[in-house]
Amino acid sequence: MWNLEFNPGFKSIKEVLTGDKNATTIGSRDDWYQGSVKYWNEQPTTVDGVLGGYGVIHDADSATSGQMIDDMRDRISGFDRAIDLGAGIGRIAKTTLVPRFAAVDLLEPSEAQINKARENVPQINQFYQVGMQEFNYEKRYDCVWL
Ligand SMILES: C[S@@+](CC[C@H](N)C(=O)[O-])C[C@H]1O[C@@H](n2cnc3c(N)ncnc32)[C@H](O)[C@@H]1O
Repeated sequence: MWNLEFNPGFKSIKEVLTGDKNATTIGSRDDWYQGSVKYWNEQPTTVDGVLGGYGVIHDADSATSGQMIDDMRDRISGFDRAIDLGAGIGRIAKTTLVPRFAAVDLLEPSEAQINKARENVPQINQFYQVGMQEFNYEKRYDCVWL
């Protein structure tokens, strides 16, 4: 649901992504996904960049995400394999998933972001440069992180 309160002056995500205030609709499905990848290719490949300027929350976010997984230890299928979807530069994969799961895969459609993730988290088992909407699951995951 588009929230005008948080995005004053923009009537749709397309206006934000294109900077075109005359654009009134999101457009086609492809426009939507390509616009998103374009946007993320142009953002700084830093913690602050993937968090939209709120890099300050990274430590607390990582710690509480890890705590949540730990608290679910008895309720999830195991710690063999996880996948980080829309992983950006691999921020959470690095701090939260790799330390807990035997193998971690990473999916990220933006070339700029995934290239930084390759540098940041070389421990990743398999990188997929693709959008979630196109991803075919070939393995069983204990944790699908989004
Ligand atoms: C706000 S960033 C968050 C990155 C990371 N999850 C984190 O917490 O640091 C959103 C990420 O989702 C990715 N993304 C955008 N569209 C996507 C799609 N269709 N499928 C998977 N990821 C997508 C972007 O490229 C971007 O890296």
